Amino acid sequence: MADHVQISDTTLRDGEQAAGVAFGLAAKVEIARQLNQLGVDEIEAGFPSASEAEIEAIQAVSKVVTGRRTAVLLRALRADIDKGAEALKFAEQPVATVVAPVSDLHIRVKFGKTHDEVLEMVEDSVRYASKRFQQVIFSGEDATRTDLASLERFYLAALSAGASMVSIPDTVGYAQPEEFGQLVAHIRALIGPDVGLRIHCHNDLGVGVANSLAAVRHGANIVSCTFNGIGERAGNAALEEIVAALAIREDYYRRKTRLKLDEIYATSQLVSRLSGVAIGHTKPIVGDNAFAHSAGIHQHGVLRDRTTYEIASPQLVGAPERGLVIGKHTGHHGLRAKLTQLRVDLPSQAAFDRVLAEVKLRAHNGTDIDDATLLSIVDGLGR
Ligand code: KIV
Ligand code: ZN
Repeated sequence: MADHVQISDTTLRDGEQAAGVAFGLAAKVEIARQLNQLGVDEIEAGFPSASEAEIEAIQAVSKVVTGRRTAVLLRALRADIDKGAEALKFAEQPVATVVAPVSDLHIRVKFGKTHDEVLEMVEDSVRYASKRFQQVIFSGEDATRTDLASLERFYLAALSAGASMVSIPDTVGYAQPEEFGQLVAHIRALIGPDVGLRIHCHNDLGVGVANSLAAVRHGANIVSCTFNGIGERAGNAALEEIVAALAIREDYYRRKTRLKLDEIYATSQLVSRLSGVAIGHTKPIVGDNAFAHSAGIHQHGVLRDRTTYEIASPQLVGAPERGLVIGKHTGHHGLRAKLTQLRVDLPSQAAFDRVLAEVKLRAHNGTDIDDATLLSIVDGLGR
């Protein structure tokens, strides 16, 4: 198995399925250019059956994607495969992901068919797709709520029909990390070491990233994820968190990605701006507070040695230095360091104490004191 973990970014497809998000052609192209710059291995550009406009947007995306795969999501229908071929006709490395339900629940309720009927659809559509695409991935929808024997049957049938890779999606965010890892290990053993195995996790129970990392530990070599974790319902596993975990805990995972890590923050900001989905302050890796230190005890530690409370620097992911937050929890060490950064030299300990007292008074309700406000406090009380 290759050492590198490949990243398949689906911000433009599953990410766009987040309620309230719609990327137009220009937005898709702008994000794709940035993903290209970041160095993801695969960009899932959209769902061609959605509309003619979607096909045009995918075509435009595929023209700016170089040196990596452009993928589309297709149902197990010949008509969908034809639309996929049209959408990817300009792509350097086109990939068709053919999806069909595999759980008993989805097969019965959504399709009103038997397992054998859906299996036939999969075989036919994968065979048809493999004549039009160099690479075809079969994705078994709702795989994590499917009995193992049935799942094995679907994956083996798809591979015999010409699929070059398989995808295990946790469509409804139901799996738990250890369990998902075991499932991935089982399917890896079934398909052998050389077949691409993609996983795709949702975050309904808040473990999308943990599931993705467990999958990497157990033999997945392609991780499908989105920027800022946007996606259907509670979203997808967040790309920036997975990639940062693999980089920062390389000692544990022993697998790298090929991404330029210092492009992560810029990409996250771009996706937030164009999707209209704000990034929570405490969001790992890309949130405003991800590298900020607030408590006096923490500030004291960081001032002596950053590694006391930082497992990575903001520069690793291209995030701006936030450093010391001046607010309710600030202590003497933090305020002194901040004043030094701002080149403020107070004349006496009494002046310093007045400034600190005022900071705490103004910040008691949780409002942080920005540099301009701190300087105005110094002007008023620090002389
Ligand atoms: O979560 C999922 O199963 C998907 C498929 C449609 C691939 O996004
Ligand atoms: Zn999904």
